Amino acid sequence: MTILKDKVAIITGAGRGIGKETALFLAKQGVKILVNDLGANPDGSGEDKIADEVVSEITNLGGKALANYDSVDSFEGGQNIFNSALSEFGAVDILINNAGILRDKTLFNMEESDWDIIMAVHLKGHFNCTKPFVCYIRETNRLNCRVINMSSVSGLIGNFGQTNYGAAKAGIAGFSRSLSMEMAKYKCTVNTISPGAATRLTIDLMKAAGRDVDENDWKQGPQQIAPVIAWLSSDEANEITNQIFHISQGNVGIMQQPAVIKSFKSDTVWDLEKLNRVMPDLIDAKKIHDEEVEKKGEPI
Ligand SMILES: NC(=O)c1ccc[n+]([C@@H]2O[C@H](COP(=O)([O-])OP(=O)(O)OC[C@H]3O[C@@H](n4cnc5c(N)ncnc54)[C@H](O)[C@@H]3O)[C@@H](O)[C@H]2O)c1
Repeated sequence: MTILKDKVAIITGAGRGIGKETALFLAKQGVKILVNDLGANPDGSGEDKIADEVVSEITNLGGKALANYDSVDSFEGGQNIFNSALSEFGAVDILINNAGILRDKTLFNMEESDWDIIMAVHLKGHFNCTKPFVCYIRETNRLNCRVINMSSVSGLIGNFGQTNYGAAKAGIAGFSRSLSMEMAKYKCTVNTISPGAATRLTIDLMKAAGRDVDENDWKQGPQQIAPVIAWLSSDEANEITNQIFHISQGNVGIMQQPAVIKSFKSDTVWDLEKLNRVMPDLIDAKKIHDEEVEKKGEPI
């Protein structure tokens, strides 16, 4: 049985989209929620107290929640977010690093500010919010906590016009892998989500790709992501760590991690002629591997 009652979760960017749906889902399971959201526009500009609306919805459902409006992009903000949850609820068990923005441009047109803000909100945002939590876990020896991070196919596979976002999201997957090793001693699992959901961040992109979009259809909207995050937060997932789950179009899948799939050894330093011979084999092996993985990944 999935047990979540009376746990405490911090969810960043929980004023809308995936974060909001996750906050409502977890609250219905009896989790107390710190609803963090700066209330930013999709490009990261502006501020609004939208976290209040989610807190009201949770309270109306009989749940417990507190709003926080700090930005995840500063070290101080991350500390404030954690401190708010701890002082309100007395403990923290789950951190869901979800806040996000976009500044899509090809590298030709990208300004330094487009690069910096994406790194600050996504990659440094994960650091800012996670560091106070893991220090607390170590200081209090609190076992069985959860860190759930938000990556993207943009970082794990690649996407045109998203070198900044893709780099940050690939960095988040790397952050998760190393952190899962550091937190194993405390039985704190660290997993990564690769979501695909119609939200204000993606609806225009989906429409531009010629897709019919209905965010209220559960197979398209952010409501498909929330149960998977909840399951990973529950005691059922005590042993599940260092994994990447892809949730999109109503399907739940697990992604492969980078690994060597074929290699050759040499008794002397590699020369260009020898590389001419082995490189085609390596590329072929990769092609076969990719085809096999694609077949295996088909939804059952
Ligand atoms: N929707 C998708 O298909 C998709 C795909 C891949 C990754 N993601 C990731 O999932 C996460 C959630 O995205 P979403 O689609 O629900 O978008 P969304 O815009 O609906 O929600 C993101 C929320 O983050 C908040 N936010 C932005 N900057 C913040 C900051 N500095 N501090 C605190 N809050 C901040 C925004 O105000 C917003 O409410 C993001 O990290 C996004 O990159 C989404």
